[in-house]
Amino acid sequence: MSRVTLSRYLIEQTRDHGTPADLRFLIEVVARACKAISHAVSKGALGGVLGNAGTDNVQGEAQKKLDVISNEILLEANEWGGHLAAMASEEMDTVYPIPGRFPKGAYMLLFDPLDGSSNIDINGSVGTIFSVLRCPDGVSEPGEADFLQPGVTQVAAGYAMYGPQTILMLTLGSGVKGFTLDRELGSFVLTHDDIRIPEQTQEFAINTSNARHWEAPVQRYVEELLAGQTGPLGKNYNMRWIAAMVGDVHRILTRGGIFMYPWDAREPNKPGKLRLMYEANPMSFIVEQAGGAATNGRQRILDIQPSSLHERVAVFLGSKAEVERITRYHLEADAAR
Ligand code: F6P
Repeated sequence: MSRVTLSRYLIEQTRDHGTPADLRFLIEVVARACKAISHAVSKGALGGVLGNAGTDNVQGEAQKKLDVISNEILLEANEWGGHLAAMASEEMDTVYPIPGRFPKGAYMLLFDPLDGSSNIDINGSVGTIFSVLRCPDGVSEPGEADFLQPGVTQVAAGYAMYGPQTILMLTLGSGVKGFTLDRELGSFVLTHDDIRIPEQTQEFAINTSNARHWEAPVQRYVEELLAGQTGPLGKNYNMRWIAAMVGDVHRILTRGGIFMYPWDAREPNKPGKLRLMYEANPMSFIVEQAGGAATNGRQRILDIQPSSLHERVAVFLGSKAEVERITRYHLEADAAR
């Protein structure tokens, strides 16, 4: 049987499901940028790309050289094609308008160019996360306010994971497909058709070094997980933590589980560590499209109305039964207050 490349899959989506040609082009361009990032990441010390860039991003985090390189690759690949009205990135303070010399399009692209960048220097998995929104009608130069759309309005989302293989996971709103980069041919090839997250699971991912700072419902749930067969959940759980959201979400899409990054008292004024618009929203869209669930402990993430581009959020995502349980624990604790 002939192999289905990303290009062929997208052309078939246009033919059979009416996916607009400029959205198809957008995804192809993002995928091409991800190939270039994959190449840069794989060079490591030989390419002189490891270490800090010597700058901070808008969140006050030290930027790695590869954060900056990946951001540049995505901007340059996407600015000239006429498919975008603007872009926004974790690595830029505000919206990046399409330069005046290039045509403008109907979509807006948000991305975390290199998620999990503390893994770069240890040769661990990292990735690119992206989200596609429609530019509001009649707006030709979108500003930050035009990006502040709840996650349910996303028209596409995906991530590329740079691990032993480079894998691109994509949703256009009707299921999730996975493509593996064939490095000899330079093409993404469909390898994961119709991804489904099992409802039940025995794996969880959370940075337990923060346990003393969590809210009571999170402490309760994790204590129950740790109690295993002898506790109220009646089964043993295994713990995994890749320290890159792409890696943990990818594992969940592959074999189920729950990923948590809750609010904690280290920075009490921030709702969480992860960013809503270019981390939690695209990942929640993918997880829901694969039959899982994603909440901030109290509310479906995709329903949250963002109030700023770099807004943070608590995240509980993965197998439905587990996400429902931890969400119920939060709501019960709130009701008892
Ligand atoms: O973007 C933030 C991020 O790198 C996520 O990919 C990852 O899940 C998390 O931070 C890791 O945080 P910690 O430093 O608590 O392990």
